[in-house]
Amino acid sequence: MTDPTDAPAPLPASFPTPERPLPPGGPAAVAERVRAALGAVLPEHGAGPAALDALAALVRAETVQPRHPHTAAHLHGPVLAASAALDALIGELNPSMDSWDQSAAPSVIEEELVAALAGLCFGATASHPGGTVTTGGTESNLMALMFARYEAIHRAYDTDPAEEGIPSYAAGRIKILTSAVAHFSLARAAALLGIGERAVVPVPIGPDHRMDPQALEETAARLEADNHLIAAVVGTAGTTDAGAIDPLAECARIAHRRGAWFHVDAAYGGGLLFSDRRRPMLDGIEEADSVSIDLHKFGWQSIPAGVLLARDRAAFGPLARRVAYLSALDDERAGYPNLLDRSVRTTRRADAVKIVATCQALGRAGLAALIEHCFALTAHTAAAVRARSEFELAVEPALTTVLFRYLPRYGDPDRVNAALRRRLLAEGSAVIGRTELPGPDGKPNGPGSLRLKLTLLNPQTTPEDLDRLLDLVAAAGAAEDLPS
Ligand SMILES: Cc1ncc(COP(=O)(O)O)c(C=O)c1O
Repeated sequence: MTDPTDAPAPLPASFPTPERPLPPGGPAAVAERVRAALGAVLPEHGAGPAALDALAALVRAETVQPRHPHTAAHLHGPVLAASAALDALIGELNPSMDSWDQSAAPSVIEEELVAALAGLCFGATASHPGGTVTTGGTESNLMALMFARYEAIHRAYDTDPAEEGIPSYAAGRIKILTSAVAHFSLARAAALLGIGERAVVPVPIGPDHRMDPQALEETAARLEADNHLIAAVVGTAGTTDAGAIDPLAECARIAHRRGAWFHVDAAYGGGLLFSDRRRPMLDGIEEADSVSIDLHKFGWQSIPAGVLLARDRAAFGPLARRVAYLSALDDERAGYPNLLDRSVRTTRRADAVKIVATCQALGRAGLAALIEHCFALTAHTAAAVRARSEFELAVEPALTTVLFRYLPRYGDPDRVNAALRRRLLAEGSAVIGRTELPGPDGKPNGPGSLRLKLTLLNPQTTPEDLDRLLDLVAAAGAAEDLPS
């Protein structure tokens, strides 16, 4: 067991904290400075190595810095040195994962990584798990819904949607049920897969932003009674704003009773698999048919580091291709693996290597300790928000985001909160998030729903850093609090 009182594991090496979280002045000022310093991007004659120094200095000075403790808007975290180091090596060696003769070791390393993560996720419940490294939750979710679409259409109509398209008699019948606050990439995936965004049916959420399982049951029953085909239920393990984790075990039961695919979008919360203490929050994930995990979120990887896991590696079958220049049959018979069923991409970076570097450098307990530190920061910040009369906490944190707002004395709360965030950005003093509180149907709850968001993913941030950040927010709020 991970002892929750363990101090964070010493990082194998870490980068210095940057001076400020972002360049000052806002978009127009940054664009002006960058254009002035950049010069011609394609000169007739190159400047050699001097060009690199100049460009690196410019990018370093004018880029948002997720390593600064006052950068806390998005699921966009600082990078561990172990990840960055092997990311640079991969940049240099440039292996590509679409055939063995462009990769060799990285294709084996990816397989081992997938096996280890599938073991953490599915345990002994999956006898032939599979998976792949992706560019992130968007690609993972697309692939998962592609698997679900294949399964549903193949089972119901004995046809392959990848070959034949969606049969006309199935069009409009296929449905995917998600929480009303599921990530937008799922709806976009449905559009890309030809079943249309309207195929994604939002299921109401409770006040804790979790999908209501009774509403899921009722929605599924109503759709079936209307002769719809439920291809998939998607549970979210860590919604983007509130970090809410849907009741995964109940979602799994409701999906599987109907023969539907159960996908878990654990892009945010998947990292909890590393922690014995937090793993129970994901109970039910082991029942999933597929799971998206982003290690560039809770995992501190350089972008991209998505992972898609499947309970049964056969799910990837429809992606397999026999291509003369990449996957000749006699090569495969001679022991050269056909890697073309791993991805929707062809040329593919060996991102598994940097992930394994991190896993080996920190170990599971080391990663769990970093996660624990982020939970502690979140509890501290939520308590500080609650204790200060100028703030209002919106919802109890579920993972490591804090949703709150500044309470103005005079001005309209939505306007003041939006303006104070832009003020911090323009000053170059903090990057905090904004969003809108949803109603049960996932739609913004009307005027008064704007909230600020702190996404706490930085294991090197201290509680004092966050106290100072709240001071900055309060000062910016007071400066913007003018009568509307
Ligand atoms: C819950 C969830 N799913 C999917 C995604 C998309 O992930 P990516 O940006 O890595 O494609 C996000 C992004 O924040 C997310 O929060």
